[in-house]
Formats: sequence, C-alpha cells, structure tokens
Amino acid sequence: MIQRDATMYVILLGPPGAGKGTQAVQTAAATGLLHLSTGDMFREHLRNGTDLGNLAKTYMDRGELVPDDVTIRMLLERIGRTDAQAGCLFDGFPRTVEQARALDEALSAQNDEIAVTVLIDVSNEEITRRLGGRVSCAACGSVFHNIFNPPDESSPCCDTVNMIQRDDDKPEAIANRLQVYADQTEPLVAYYRDAGKLSTVNGEQPPAAVGAELLAALEAVSG
Ligand code: AP5
Ligand code: MG
Repeated sequence: MIQRDATMYVILLGPPGAGKGTQAVQTAAATGLLHLSTGDMFREHLRNGTDLGNLAKTYMDRGELVPDDVTIRMLLERIGRTDAQAGCLFDGFPRTVEQARALDEALSAQNDEIAVTVLIDVSNEEITRRLGGRVSCAACGSVFHNIFNPPDESSPCCDTVNMIQRDDDKPEAIANRLQVYADQTEPLVAYYRDAGKLSTVNGEQPPAAVGAELLAALEAVSG
C-alpha cells in the first residue's frame, strides 16, 4: 500500500472504455481510497428501481450524460458520508466543467482539494475494440473482456454463462458516448492541466502496466 496523507482525492479521467473501472478497482485496493463510479451508482439505482435510476437509464441507453444537477447532487451526497472522509478515487466523475467546479467547491468547503487527475490515454480505435467485447458478471459485477481479459471458467461466479453485456455497449451508443466525451468531457483535460493537476498515463498497455504508471502518478503527489 502506498504512503499517503490521511485524505486524498484523485480523479480518473478518460474516454469510455479507457479502463477507468478496471484500474479503479486495483488502485482502490492498493491505496485504501474509496472507489466512487457515478456510472455504477446509476446502475445500482436502476437495479433498485428508484426514480433516479429510471431517469438515468433514459440518458445512459443513448450514450448521453445524465443532467448535471441530478448527477452533482448524487455525488455530493455520497462524498459527504463518513466512509468518504479519508479520500476518494473518482471514476467517471466529473464529466463536465460544471461538475468539476461543483466538486472543487465542495472539497474547498471542507479544506480539501483534488490531489491529481490521471488521464488514461487510449485511442478511439482501441476503445471500440474494448467496449465491443466487454462483459460483466451478473452475480458480482466484475468486468471482463471476451478476448483481452476472458471470464474465469474455474469460478462458480464469473464464468462465461454468468456474463452480461451493458445496454450502452451497443455500437450506436458507443459512437455517441465517444462524441459526448469529445464535446463535454475532454475540456476537463485543459481544466486540470491549467490547475497544475494533470498527469497522463498510457492506457494502451496491459492492465498491470497501466496500474503501475497510475500508482507512480499517485505516489508523486502523496505526502
Ligand atoms: P460509465 O459507467 O462511467 O461508463 P464510461 O465512462 O462510458 O466508461 P466505461 O465504464 O464504459 O469504461 P471504463 O473506462 O470504466 O473501462 P473498463 O475498465 O470497463 O458511465 C455510463 C453512463 O452513465 C454514461 O454514458 C452516462 O450516461 C452516465 N454517467 C456516468 N457518470 C456520469 C456523470 N458524471 N455525468 C453524467 N452522466 C454520467 O474497461 C473497458 C473494457 O476494456 C473491459 O472489457 C476491460 O476488461 C477492458 N480493458 C480494460 N483495461 C484494458 C487494457 N489495459 N487492455 C485491454 N483491455 C482492457
Ligand atoms: Mg467504468
């Protein structure tokens, strides 16, 4: 486990399919940071049949962003809970400049700030390959790829028969998510670079090598 200050807020930034979720699970285990994925939070709301989940689905299925007001309210409520006070690893949030400003303000109000934003850099061609083959375990939610990271046939939980595909991993939704990323989320690269808080890792390497670069970026800013 890396040495770090008591509190550390880290953002994983990158296009859909860059490997934010894959890396967040490993990095959270290595650092003790709480992994917060707004996409996972919306999908959990949907499984629980809440109004928020049903609203989010109408946007997610098309590859559109859920409106800022709803997303920001959900995230700020979550980081206000006790288990988030030692820091968080944000995966898929912020995705707009408005969300980034809201997060900065909320952290500043508790005398905290983002330590670093790590951009996982991957080309559009590679993303299309990854999302087309992504599957996840219906029982535990672990994420696999049919070719790059196949399901575990020896596991009673994560074997091939238990795998499901996300509704937004269909070709039309993937194309729209990439466009939405370019239009609404990519401006955050300049936002965090201008703030002196951007670090970039090469996402087109095996997951373990990406993870090693990511941990090095966190170590560089941990006290
Ligand atoms: P979200 O769930 O965040 O989806 P996303 O950003 O589109 O990102 P993904 O989860 O698709 O990709 P990932 O980067 O996590 O990659 P993964 O590790 O799975 O959001 C879904 C939707 O929710 C949004 O479209 C929006 O509607 C809504 N939403 C969420 N947050 C929002 C917000 N803040 N504001 C508004 N709306 C919001 O990896 C992908 C695949 O590649 C996997 O199969 C994996 O096994 C494989 N893989 C990973 N790493 C590697 C590697 N190094 N080499 C080869 N394969 C790899
Ligand atoms: Mg994800």
